[in-house]
Amino acid sequence: MPPPLGDDDSCLLTPLIPASPPPLPPRATARLHPLPLLVGALFATYYHLLVAPAPSYYQSLFLSLGCNDTAAAHLRALTVRPHLAGTEANALAADHVVSTLSSLSFPTRVTPYEVLLSYPVRRSLSLSAPGHATTTFALVQDTYPGDPYAAASAEVVPTFLAYAASGSAAAEVVYANYGRTEDYAYLASRGVNVTGKVALARYGKVYRGDIVINARDAGAAAAVIFTDAKDYTPGKAFPDGPWMPATGVQVGSTFKGVGDPTTPMWASSEGCERVSVAEAMATDDMPGIPALPVSGRDGEEILRLVGGDVAPEDWQGGEGAPVYHLGPGPAVLNLSYTGNETIATIQNVISVIEGKEEPDRYVILGNHRDAWTFGAADPNSGTAALLELAERLSKLQTKGWRPRRTIILCNWDAEEYGLIGSTEWVEENRAMLTSRTVAYLNVDVGVSGSGVDASATPQLDQLLKKVQNPDNGTESLYDMWMASDSSLIGRLGGGGSDYSAFVQHIGIPSVDMAIGSGYAVYHSLYDDFTWMEKYGDPMFRRHVAVASIWGLVALRLSDEEILPFNYSSYVTELENGAVDINKRVLGMPVSLSPLHKSIKQLNRAVLKVDSELQALQTWKFWSPWRNDRLRVRDLNDRLMMTERAFTEREGLSGRPWYKHMIYGPSLYNDYGAEVYPGVDDAIQTAKKTNTSESWQSVQHEIHRIARVISQAALVLSGGLT
Ligand SMILES: *[C@@H]1O[C@H](CO)[C@@H](O)[C@H](O)[C@H]1NC(C)=O
Ligand SMILES: *[C@@H]1O[C@H](CO)[C@@H](O)[C@H](O)[C@H]1NC(C)=O
Ligand SMILES: *[C@@H]1O[C@H](CO)[C@@H](O)[C@H](O)[C@H]1NC(C)=O
Ligand SMILES: *[C@@H]1O[C@H](CO)[C@@H](O)[C@H](O)[C@H]1NC(C)=O
Ligand SMILES: *[C@@H]1O[C@H](CO)[C@@H](O)[C@H](O)[C@H]1NC(C)=O
Repeated sequence: MPPPLGDDDSCLLTPLIPASPPPLPPRATARLHPLPLLVGALFATYYHLLVAPAPSYYQSLFLSLGCNDTAAAHLRALTVRPHLAGTEANALAADHVVSTLSSLSFPTRVTPYEVLLSYPVRRSLSLSAPGHATTTFALVQDTYPGDPYAAASAEVVPTFLAYAASGSAAAEVVYANYGRTEDYAYLASRGVNVTGKVALARYGKVYRGDIVINARDAGAAAAVIFTDAKDYTPGKAFPDGPWMPATGVQVGSTFKGVGDPTTPMWASSEGCERVSVAEAMATDDMPGIPALPVSGRDGEEILRLVGGDVAPEDWQGGEGAPVYHLGPGPAVLNLSYTGNETIATIQNVISVIEGKEEPDRYVILGNHRDAWTFGAADPNSGTAALLELAERLSKLQTKGWRPRRTIILCNWDAEEYGLIGSTEWVEENRAMLTSRTVAYLNVDVGVSGSGVDASATPQLDQLLKKVQNPDNGTESLYDMWMASDSSLIGRLGGGGSDYSAFVQHIGIPSVDMAIGSGYAVYHSLYDDFTWMEKYGDPMFRRHVAVASIWGLVALRLSDEEILPFNYSSYVTELENGAVDINKRVLGMPVSLSPLHKSIKQLNRAVLKVDSELQALQTWKFWSPWRNDRLRVRDLNDRLMMTERAFTEREGLSGRPWYKHMIYGPSLYNDYGAEVYPGVDDAIQTAKKTNTSESWQSVQHEIHRIARVISQAALVLSGGLT
């Protein structure tokens, strides 16, 4: 019989989900089917249906068990000290995760790796100009009176950009807006020569690694990135409001690659082959020039002394800022930086809840733990949600639940440096993961404001849209998204978080989700528990909500007999991408017919699977005599493996680690999520050079994507040619 409901276990005084008890498990099918002669056989056959609650029963129970105090307590424990990857404090945070998961009796272990990390040793930055006294910047983020984290903040790493080259430069300043390629093109068009200068750019539009690399490619001797108040402080600054204080600095990595730079393409396991540190630091994915991040206040001070032509309107700052000029000079910046690139030990935490019927199928949940500072939003709001979710799963177990498939909870390390912990683990376990993983569900910054924000590979769209809005029991996420003007579901082509290796390297269906998107104190000293408690999530209900969505998606994927994957929105997505390409190659010697043909093939496979599903559901009742278990397993395997077919052994041209032909970062902005990145790169090159070879390589890339889509169609339909 179903165990009694666990409402009394919920610690929320007013539960987010109306406290109506979860529906009783559906058991009627077996009772309603009168076949007197077969009663005995039927009873044996449907025994599990009679006594075991349906998956939906445990899903409702899971939702009713949410506890904001639990999430808050974990967040507080995880953020008492700054815990940068490779430090003792982060190993202690790992202990907290291990002991929590072990105490719930989930077998839990640490998988360590030795990887190349980067720390600042010496930094100095001074500003001079003819007729002005030299200013030496303090490069310190101020605490405020009464800050409970003032003492701990002494342990925060000095502001720096990881993997920036050691060296110095003293040269005139050029202002480069957001540091995008188009910004440098504009400077060139205005006759501003960046060669040998110090480029000053502001955060906000592209990955900081691209800001520095674009500066290098434009010839700059060094780069400085500031946080413009216009973008990060439109209201009251922390602690009086949620926005970035004037001395706040966004630190971060400038490495453009993925995983340990000394083990490209393979895992940093013990005793493994490695390229030398010097070689790793000399690749194109490294910034190659010295660089530093500075505060909004320091950025403005520099810009006050930059002359030359007035910068265009959309390059200007906000109210109270000086007028920004392009330079070069007369302001001169003298930047000197020494970093320590050193092999350090990191710890991933892996916890396993073994599946009962299909233990060899994995649903993987992941979040990282390492933080640039205290990490209250980034990433430990996600870690706190993971631990709160785990406590609920443990309670479900005491009520008789065992997942059908294995659930693996992962807490990654060194994400901030270049998605290192997750990537090394995926590389080390590649063959096992590709043959067994149903889906990867990522949460990085779990909570930073309001509104559910989700990105996914398209076969998961329908599942996500149907998930109940945890803030409103009568509404689905889809209804909520339709009611707001946020775009529905994003895609996973960018390099922003730990889903990258799962999707882009090995082709696992994945989701990345969060509540809130973007917040001003990101990667600064001020991302602490106080900020979260005051502004991010005052009652910790959003933490519970993100754990609810995350857990619900996990339970549906782990417990439903037939995987809730639907490839029809993949077809739509591929078609839309083809329409975009068509617009961009109009009038050029490029044919899209191979692509259209392969998409039609995939569409036929989707329709075939639909009818298979209907047949299975119609005949489900007779399963024992039709050997449907193997048919279901076969269908599930095809649904799982179709995503794998979008990967290609050689990978994107010139970027062999990126095996997925549909989703990957664009060459020019690591955050950009393009469909068909290989075709996009080829078109950008062809537009620049406009040679017949360059258009031929666009055609070649179109053939390549058509080939993987045809492979996916064959896997989904389960047929050989
Ligand atoms: C920019 O300056 C460098 C060094 O002074 C010089 O070699 C280069 O030709 C200049 N580029 C342009 C486009 O004037
Ligand atoms: C730049 O600063 C460094 C370190 O403070 C100093 O040693 C060097 O002389 C300065 N260079 C110039 C050209 O001012
Ligand atoms: C770099 O880090 C390593 C490991 O922590 C340390 O042993 C070494 O002394 C550091 N080097 C410098 C120049 O700080
Ligand atoms: C919940 O969603 C329904 C349907 O969208 C809406 O009518 C209702 O106002 C919402 N309730 C709350 C409390 O937001
Ligand atoms: C949890 O929610 C209750 C109200 O439901 C509230 O009283 C309590 O303060 C919240 N806990 C935290 C840590 O915010």
